[in-house]
Formats: sequence, C-alpha cells, structure tokens
Amino acid sequence: MNANAAFSILVVVVLLTCAPRCISSQQQQQRRVNMTLVRNASLIGAYCLDGSLPAYHLDRGVGAGSRNWLLQFEGGGWCNDVKSCLDRAATRRGSTLHMSKVEVFSGILSNNASLNPDFYNWNRVKLRYCDGASFAGDAVFDNGTSLLYFRGQRIWKAIILDLLPKGLGQARKALLSGCSAGGLATFVHCDDFTSYLPANASVKCLSDAGLFLDARDIAMNHSMRYFYKSLVSLQGVEKNLNKNCMSSGYPELCFFPQYVLPYIKTPYFILNTAYDVYQFHHILVPPAADPHGHWYHCKLSPKACNTVQIATLQGFRRYMLETLRPFYTNSTGGGMFINSCFAHCQSESQDTWLALDSPRVHNKTIAQAVGDWYFSRRISKEIDCAYPCDSSCHNQLS
Ligand SMILES: *[C@@H]1O[C@H](CO)[C@@H](O)[C@H](O)[C@H]1NC(C)=O
Ligand SMILES: *[C@@H]1O[C@H](CO)[C@@H](O)[C@H](O)[C@H]1NC(C)=O
Ligand SMILES: *[C@@H]1O[C@H](CO)[C@@H](O)[C@H](O)[C@H]1NC(C)=O
Ligand SMILES: *[C@@H]1O[C@H](CO)[C@@H](O)[C@H](O)[C@H]1NC(C)=O
Ligand SMILES: *[C@@H]1O[C@H](CO)[C@@H](O)[C@H](O)[C@H]1NC(C)=O
Ligand SMILES: *[C@@H]1O[C@H](CO)[C@@H](O)[C@H](O)[C@H]1NC(C)=O
Ligand SMILES: *[C@@H]1O[C@H](CO)[C@@H](O)[C@H](O)[C@H]1NC(C)=O
Ligand SMILES: *[C@@H]1O[C@H](CO)[C@@H](O)[C@H](O)[C@H]1NC(C)=O
Repeated sequence: MNANAAFSILVVVVLLTCAPRCISSQQQQQRRVNMTLVRNASLIGAYCLDGSLPAYHLDRGVGAGSRNWLLQFEGGGWCNDVKSCLDRAATRRGSTLHMSKVEVFSGILSNNASLNPDFYNWNRVKLRYCDGASFAGDAVFDNGTSLLYFRGQRIWKAIILDLLPKGLGQARKALLSGCSAGGLATFVHCDDFTSYLPANASVKCLSDAGLFLDARDIAMNHSMRYFYKSLVSLQGVEKNLNKNCMSSGYPELCFFPQYVLPYIKTPYFILNTAYDVYQFHHILVPPAADPHGHWYHCKLSPKACNTVQIATLQGFRRYMLETLRPFYTNSTGGGMFINSCFAHCQSESQDTWLALDSPRVHNKTIAQAVGDWYFSRRISKEIDCAYPCDSSCHNQLS
C-alpha cells in the first residue's frame, strides 16, 4: 500500500465533501491560531523527516478553563519505506517548512462556548505531524546521499517539555486527543502523558478514528499487519511501544490499539465510525485485494453495495465491536461512540462535532458524549445499530 497516495485520496475526499459546508462556516468567526516552532527541539535531536524543527499551535485558555489543557495530535497517514518518506519529507506532512503557519481551530478545538461547550475555554494545542509514524519512531536513515529523521517520539517529548513551563506542568485537567494517525498516537502516548502531569490532575485520552484494526482484507490477507510491521521496523517504533503489551508474546502487534488498550491505565474514550472509510478503503478492501474493481461503486457510496458487500462490511463492524467488548463491559472510566457511518474523523470539524444536524447516537451528539464522559456526568458508551439505521451520518462519499 502506498500511504501517500492513500492519503492524498483522502484529502480530496475531505475537500469534496466539505466544500458546501465550509463556505457557510467561513461566514462565522473562525479562530485562527499561529504556529509556534519548538526551538529547543534540536537539543534533544527532535526533527521532522526533513530536519526542520517541529511545531504546535497553542490557543490560551481563559477563566475557569485556564488551568485545563487539551492536546490534539494532527493526523495524516504514515510512510513505511524510504521512498515514501523521502517524498513525504518534501511536503506539509514531513516538514514544518511546507506547513500552513496558521490553523483554524474548530470542533473540539473551537473557542466558542456554543460550538464546544465543555472545552472552549481550555488551553488548546494542536501538535503538528511531521514524522510519518504517529509520533512514535526513533531512528535515522542516512546512506550518504539521503537523510531522513524518524524522530516522532522525540518530537512528542520536545513539545511536552516546551509546554510544561507554559502551564501544562500545573494542569488540573487534561485531555490527550487526536484523529486518524493522530488517534493512533494517543494510544502510544496516553500513559506517558499522565506521567508528565501533576499526580492529582484529572488526565484522560480520546482516540478519534484511530482504532485501526488488525483485520484481514477481502483476500484474507493481513495487509495492515504487513504495513505496520514495515513502518515499525523502518522508523524504530518498537522501543516506544507499551512495555506490558510487548512482553505479552506478540510484540509486532502492539502498534494496533486493540492489543494495547487493555494495558492502558488512563481513562479512554474511543470515537470511531463502524465503517470508517479509511479502514474500509485501505484495510478491508485495499486496491491490491480488489484488482478488478468489484468494490469501486460500493466504495463511492454504500447505496451501491451489493448484499455480499454489505455483509462483508457488517462483518467488519462486528469485528470492531468484538475487539471493544472487554472495554465496553469492564472499563469503568471508559467511554465510546461508535456510529454506523461512512466517515473518518469526527471531532475536528464543527459539522460532525456539534451542529444542529451533526451525527447522533441515541440522540446524543459527539460533543455531548465526550463531555459526559470526561466530566463523569453519566455513563457514555454509545453504539449505534447497524447500517443503514442511522440517518444523522455525514458520510464521506468519494
Ligand atoms: C459562536 O457561535 C455561534 C453559533 O455559530 C455564533 O452565532 C456566534 O457568533 C459565535 N460567537 C463568536 C464569539 O464567534
Ligand atoms: C500571528 O502572526 C501574525 C503574522 O506574523 C501576527 O501579525 C499576529 O499578531 C499573530 N497573532 C498572535 C495572536 O500572535
Ligand atoms: C531552551 O533551552 C535553554 C537552555 O537549556 C533554556 O534556558 C530555555 O529556557 C529553553 N527554552 C524553552 C522555551 O524551553
Ligand atoms: C540512498 O537512498 C536513496 C533512496 O533509497 C537512493 O536513491 C540513493 O541512491 C542511495 N544512495 C546511496 C549512496 O546508496
Ligand atoms: C493538586 O495539588 C496542588 C498542590 O497541593 C494544588 O495546588 C492543586 O490545586 C491540586 N489540583 C487539583 C486538581 O486538585
Ligand atoms: C498481502 O499483502 C502484502 C502487503 O500489502 C503484499 O505484499 C502481499 O503480496 C499480499 N499477499 C497476497 C496473497 O495478496
Ligand atoms: C470482564 O472482567 C471479568 C473479570 O476479570 C472477566 O471474567 C470477563 O470475561 C470480562 N468481560 C469481558 C467481556 O471481557
Ligand atoms: C433530541 O435532542 C434534542 C436536543 O438535543 C431535543 O430537542 C429532542 O427532543 C430530542 N429528541 C428525542 C426523540 O428525544
């Protein structure tokens, strides 16, 4: 699988689906937040793929939220071989030189109380993604002519060290979140995040569209397992994975959330669609597993799927719910929101986080479900009935 190609398809999908709504949301006031380069990152060798300095965007909290912190990992696929990482190093996914220097904060990052009632006044930070391995690698590729820094783990550390004296070190409440590859990063760093904060702080973690499953594709191939294996080995991820999971006997699987989740001590919230379009298109039906394009129309719209394809998708949903069953049943501090939609990432954009027509399960919006869980207002474990019963979806039709 070519991760860059996969991701650029996704970007096009997002742009296409967002176009009509984005225009209307531009009429509202949008919070634009400047980039902060982490100048001291070089002291610990924390560089983006191309050697540029890592960065984040910080919007300061106010009033009652001024000692609470929300950190959000940016997502954006992975690179698992030298060629795809060299390509990536020359783009906004691998270098702060090529990134937008101003980011719009919306959804869970919004500073508007009516659009983000529980977190709007917190310190909100977006951690820019430029390492290609979910902030988890630690290696260098240097063959004399090409140089690549695989320093995601050090980038994470450099950003935390930069934020601690800015108030993170005195946090009362904190939430580590992220979407897609950034959602995966929360599984890697959740307990580590807790260890940097005061012992009496309330610390929790949220994965949005980060529950990448160790599923077989339609050709019965474990293609995602191969992909992660090459990524972990290229970027030196293994030493940063959960130690208890690593000693469980299947260390090569500990990058998959389903195997590491039982070992994480910090309270978790799992937000995911049951038919996550990234996983549908790249894990369940990767192009190589469908050489004749039988799934072409079904990938474009679930309405075009035949009964066998729908049954296959329902099987994927059942597998997701099965992997979550111990968490659902036994985790007291946990929360979840698994809606039956064809989408990917629902916390960062206002139209899926909280809006009049945003996705709901049992009449609950995602913002409400996450807030109820974070503040322990009520048990918040929502699972929707299977497709096609949910009419509130914002499906990404590619
Ligand atoms: C907050 O959002 C509401 C709803 O979109 C909007 O009417 C209001 O103007 C926004 N407030 C600010 C300060 O941007
Ligand atoms: C953001 O950067 C721009 C351009 O450098 C600057 O004019 C503006 O004052 C900055 N905003 C804040 C809040 O620092
Ligand atoms: C950067 O490192 C220098 C030297 O260790 C230290 O004095 C300074 O406070 C650091 N700056 C930040 C922003 O962390
Ligand atoms: C270094 O690796 C790059 C990318 O694989 C390759 O194009 C280049 O030829 C290699 N250089 C040497 C000296 O092997
Ligand atoms: C944690 O302890 C410190 C020092 O005793 C105290 O100032 C702070 O208010 C406490 N924070 C919380 C969330 O209880
Ligand atoms: C399984 O997937 C891997 C990785 O994408 C690929 O290299 C391999 O050829 C596939 N095997 C089959 C039988 O499709
Ligand atoms: C929940 O925990 C109990 C006690 O450890 C265990 O027996 C049970 O199998 C667990 N339930 C699930 C669904 O994993
Ligand atoms: C769903 O929630 C909205 C407001 O959040 C409320 O107005 C509506 O009555 C609820 N619908 C049902 C069926 O409970």
